[in-house]
Amino acid sequence: MLEFIRLKKQQKLKGENDKGKYQNLPPGTMGIPILGETISFLIHKAEFFRQKRKNYGPVFKTHLFGKPTIRVSGRENIRKIIFGENRIVQSSYPASVKMLVGTNSLSMSTGTQHRDRKRQLMKFLSVEFLEMHVMCFSELVQETLRYWSSQSSVEIYAECRYLFMELAAKFLVSVDLSKNEKKVMKKHYQDFSDNLFTLPINLPGFGFNKALNAKRTLKKMFKTIVKNGEKSVNQFPSVLEAYGATLEDQKDIDDEFLDAIVELLWNSSETISSAAFSIVYLLATHPVVMTKLKLELSENGYILEDLNNNVSDTKQTSFKGVQELPYTEAVVKETLRLMPPIGGAYRKVLETFEIEGYTIPKEWTVVFGIRETHEHDENLLDPMNFNPDRWIGNNDASKIGYFPFGGGARGCPGKNFANTVLRIFTVELCRNLNWDLLEQNPELLYFPTPRPKNNLHVRFYDKSAIF
Ligand code: HEM
Repeated sequence: MLEFIRLKKQQKLKGENDKGKYQNLPPGTMGIPILGETISFLIHKAEFFRQKRKNYGPVFKTHLFGKPTIRVSGRENIRKIIFGENRIVQSSYPASVKMLVGTNSLSMSTGTQHRDRKRQLMKFLSVEFLEMHVMCFSELVQETLRYWSSQSSVEIYAECRYLFMELAAKFLVSVDLSKNEKKVMKKHYQDFSDNLFTLPINLPGFGFNKALNAKRTLKKMFKTIVKNGEKSVNQFPSVLEAYGATLEDQKDIDDEFLDAIVELLWNSSETISSAAFSIVYLLATHPVVMTKLKLELSENGYILEDLNNNVSDTKQTSFKGVQELPYTEAVVKETLRLMPPIGGAYRKVLETFEIEGYTIPKEWTVVFGIRETHEHDENLLDPMNFNPDRWIGNNDASKIGYFPFGGGARGCPGKNFANTVLRIFTVELCRNLNWDLLEQNPELLYFPTPRPKNNLHVRFYDKSAIF
């Protein structure tokens, strides 16, 4: 009897606590039962969040992918989430992402498995690794730029994806992709990426089914490449172990090993190619920035005064060299601020907490909006303007809400790799080529990564050919 009274008391208390849990929720709408507002999100993508932010402010509720969800933006607000990992929140993505990327993957793992794998990946992507490969990154970029300028025009977003898929495959996984393999893989990675955030319905015609098929094909392709390759097992870089992969016997390629290759190339090439496209686009539409960038490259020996000279006579890019170009660094930084490749990150709430006086209830999903944080930064004059100068000699730069790589325990381990590769790309691009967009005011999409809506073509000119 006493036990019964105690249980009743406990239930009453829990009910009262739960009531508190749902008081003072942020503004917003929850849509229809079960589906919530998922369909509207799948139709409007990034615009869905932009519009809600406009209507409700930096903290609003919605219902996505079967979960009551709160989307949060603003520097201090998202710092609370980023640095609350494993205390008040934990990384947790919608079911479709978990199933497609794989629950065993680095990005989806938690606890000690996550910590150990991440440590391994960061050890692999060391400064020594970057120093060792910078020359080869540059050569690959130069070779690609020569091809771009030899064509009457190129489809820029597709070309950026080929380049950075090849670069990631070569330097992270030690696999050389043929032209045809790159072409087929690009299509399947596109299907995989475009349908990651969707309803997990595995029926023909649904995005989830398309993404599952794409991943299956990518794994099959890598299996054939690995089997036909000249490599012995131990020539595969240890980085794959960070993704949970083991390859004990080359004849019997482990499923996890293939999952790991697909994940690593997805993590690295999708983001970098979107950023590289944004650099081409933003420089073409901001000639004053382009002039300043060229001046810096010229002052540092990357562009010779006599423009008839061969590129080989100019300074080679090096790891140290590209760290000493503040304006180039500012261009890359400002690109990632204005067009961040990843717009937001998902967390499960472990403990009820508050943001701006609103309750963020336990067991709900909370998403920190990187894109909206960058777009509405109160510390910036005209945050929607592309202005690399805001990073130069600015003592208050540390106050800028800048999170393209997330942060805290789940912060991006590929940050240094990405920054180095993007600086090399910018230097090689601007010192060798001029270019025009062949569409005025091209429409852009911002989800899953920034890109042109249509197949934007760009005409590249080799500088020595026009001077
Ligand atoms: C411009 C390029 C890149 C951008 C903007 C970017 C952005 C991000 C962001 C925002 C996150 C945090 C996600 C979260 O908090 O849930 C993240 C995580 C991650 N990124 Fe990157 N990334 C880039 C390049 C790379 C590269 C080159 C690699 C691999 C070599 C990589 C591997 C990863 C991995 C494995 C995670 C998961 C980390 C974890 O869960 O602890 N990324 N990235």
